[in-house]
Amino acid sequence: VKNPRADVWHRQPAEVERQLKAAVSTGNVITLAGGVPADDLFPSAEMDEAMASVMRDDGAAALQYGWPEGHDRLREHIAAWLATEGVVVAPEHILVTSGAQQGLDLLGRLLVPEGAPLAVETPTYTSALQAFDLRKPAWRVVPRTVRGLDLEALADAFGRGGARVLYLVSTGHNPTGGVLSEAERLEVLRLAEAHDAWVIDDDAYGSIHFASGPDTSAGDTSDSDTSASDTLGGDTPARDTSRPSPLRAFGRHLDRVAHLGSFSKVLAPGLRIGFVAGPPALIRELTRLKQAQDLETATLTQRVLARWLDQHPLERHIERCISVYQRRRDVLVDAVHAAFPRARWEAPAGGFSLLLHLPDQLDARALLPDVMRAGMAYEPADPYFVHGGEPSAVRLSFSNVDEYGLRAAVHRLAGVVAATRLG
Ligand SMILES: Cc1ncc(COP(=O)(O)O)c(C=O)c1O
Repeated sequence: VKNPRADVWHRQPAEVERQLKAAVSTGNVITLAGGVPADDLFPSAEMDEAMASVMRDDGAAALQYGWPEGHDRLREHIAAWLATEGVVVAPEHILVTSGAQQGLDLLGRLLVPEGAPLAVETPTYTSALQAFDLRKPAWRVVPRTVRGLDLEALADAFGRGGARVLYLVSTGHNPTGGVLSEAERLEVLRLAEAHDAWVIDDDAYGSIHFASGPDTSAGDTSDSDTSASDTLGGDTPARDTSRPSPLRAFGRHLDRVAHLGSFSKVLAPGLRIGFVAGPPALIRELTRLKQAQDLETATLTQRVLARWLDQHPLERHIERCISVYQRRRDVLVDAVHAAFPRARWEAPAGGFSLLLHLPDQLDARALLPDVMRAGMAYEPADPYFVHGGEPSAVRLSFSNVDEYGLRAAVHRLAGVVAATRLG
């Protein structure tokens, strides 16, 4: 037989994957490579209690098969959460998925015929490109930075490019941390309507939006002060009212927007729970595809999550997380600003990461072994660009590193960059 081959093109070379995995498992490397939530924000004891109470009260149901559309109590909770974001959707029109990632795969299969044009931002979340790779799409590229989306390129992608689907990370964009303005959201919807196109609004980071710009005073704080200020708990900050609503909150266009959500960034990715909210006909078809794929999302974690949500206000937890992530963002921005005055980068307004182009076109993959020997790791960001060609780009994730670690990591990176340029 011939060796089988998976048609998933957007990924790190195997050698880089091996290096990044080693960075997680060795204690002396501060890794800014994984866009993962903070270990110390997981409500582990509460989850333990929720798990015990599910097993005590509904053990058989939690260990039994469920339904492809998801656990009804959880869908009610998701509908209530979405309502706080301005998205009005009935629980029946929510499909629980095995992470938002499964939603991407299902939507690609349903909405993108093989070889059809597909509009994506560049850069964008690599594993979304991986999910869509299987459709062998004709990519239509829409540049995205922290400053916004290239709306002319989008009009062209829909117009001359013929795309009838757009994949978009409107808030907390991965990897840039950009947040689209309300005006941009309205224009995206207007263009989609004019071209009768679907919009997949990936809102996995939708809640991770920072109310204010980077706090430049972060640079004045000593390491001991910053690590003290990085403790969890305390007062919850005021609710951020400036966060633009998800696209599905803009009522006129509900029939063309598929909203993807997730509990991974705001609570715990180990649960593997995400969801799609959309028009009834879309959800019905996605549910059929999901049944064919994995029958259902794990009943056990759905019930544990639903029980946790019965007992704990998600919003309070999210607000606590945002205040930690915002401080970490401030510290990273301050450190990068000081270390790389001539490099190309922008301060994230949401999400978990910052996109930095190393100075002098240094090759991020080639430099990674040296950087790791110096005690830090980043993720080479070329696979976030649909057509590649950005070897100097690195993604720095600030979410799971404390403030002292962020400063140390940037210092180590700057040392290697300086030595390489001199050498
Ligand atoms: C933009 C974006 N969408 C979706 C996902 C997938 O999240 P989940 O854990 O819910 O599958 C990620 C994970 O990194 C992401 O960055």
